[in-house]
Amino acid sequence: MAVKLRPEIAALQPYRQGRPAAPDAFKLSSNENPFPPLQAVLDAISGSSFHRYPDAAATVLRARLAERLGVTPDQVHTGSGSVAILQQLIQAAAGPGDEVLYAWRSFEAYPGLVTVAGATSVQVPIRADGTHDLDAMAEAITDRTRVVIVCSPNNPTSAVVTEAEFTAFMEKVPDTLLVLLDEAYAEFVTDPDAVHGIPLLSRYPNLVVLRTFSKAYGLAGLRVGYAVGPAYILDAARSTAIPLSVTEPAQRAALAALENEAELLARVQTLIERRDDLARQLADQGWNLPAAQGNFVWLPTGEQTADAGNVLESHGIIARVFPPDGIRVSVGEPESVDKLLQATAEVVQTLREAL
Ligand SMILES: Cc1ncc(COP(=O)(O)O)c(C=O)c1O
Repeated sequence: MAVKLRPEIAALQPYRQGRPAAPDAFKLSSNENPFPPLQAVLDAISGSSFHRYPDAAATVLRARLAERLGVTPDQVHTGSGSVAILQQLIQAAAGPGDEVLYAWRSFEAYPGLVTVAGATSVQVPIRADGTHDLDAMAEAITDRTRVVIVCSPNNPTSAVVTEAEFTAFMEKVPDTLLVLLDEAYAEFVTDPDAVHGIPLLSRYPNLVVLRTFSKAYGLAGLRVGYAVGPAYILDAARSTAIPLSVTEPAQRAALAALENEAELLARVQTLIERRDDLARQLADQGWNLPAAQGNFVWLPTGEQTADAGNVLESHGIIARVFPPDGIRVSVGEPESVDKLLQATAEVVQTLREAL
């Protein structure tokens, strides 16, 4: 006999983390930052009074972010990772009978978060080049749609939404419909045409932008992200949040990261150059990649995805395989790049032979 669970929850796959890598392999499956924590961040954490509860409102961090972003502190909300804020906002806006619309394939957490809220996912296929089809998304809006999630750069394809596409889309969306622009990888974007959400907040009263300290700022394990948008929408998120979940070490680390931003952004620049170099070399091998703008690249391996993943693994590269679509590989340590390129050359060879 089993206890009665909500059937849609029992049917869910629990969140699958990027596989742990063997000691001599590179873990390129979670879009983490390969650089170790800054000493200044370690020092900041070591001063934490974590026998006490943290400041539930993350007052200092929110004030600092607000000042930098040109908004008021109540227009900033912090969460234990931006994924926590995504969950809060979906729960705040959508329940049974409501629809949450997003592109697919996109961030693997979206479907589960929608199901947990009791709402229904409406997935609009991405285009062949890995970009959002925002025209099709606008057409998929119904009177039951409560949230639209736009992910730029899109995880896992690494392709951006352009500002022109986004603003054209927003003009078609009713003001009463919440649009979440998930910019987890914003700091890695170099495409001058890409959308940047923060400057658009004053134009669109139904827009909330999600950012994180996990990727560019290298704090994935401390869990801290933030949302920027209208205060009353963020208040609704705060109402659904588990109180006190952004810990004092996380708040202190985020502040220290902001104080030492120049050093962190220099690392981001290194990763951008590594990414662009990797993308060029993959193109030279014959790969048809979407233009990579996150800290990861997308290999469109289609039906060969599982086999290609095995080839990568045999070369010591642990990537994230999404059969039957493709493989997402994070831009990691410099030594991982050559190994990856050897593996992808072998995959190209094998795929050619399979034709
Ligand atoms: C598109 C996207 N959004 C949000 C997140 C969540 O990041 P975090 O909860 O660490 O801020 C991720 C993490 O991989 C992501 O890829």
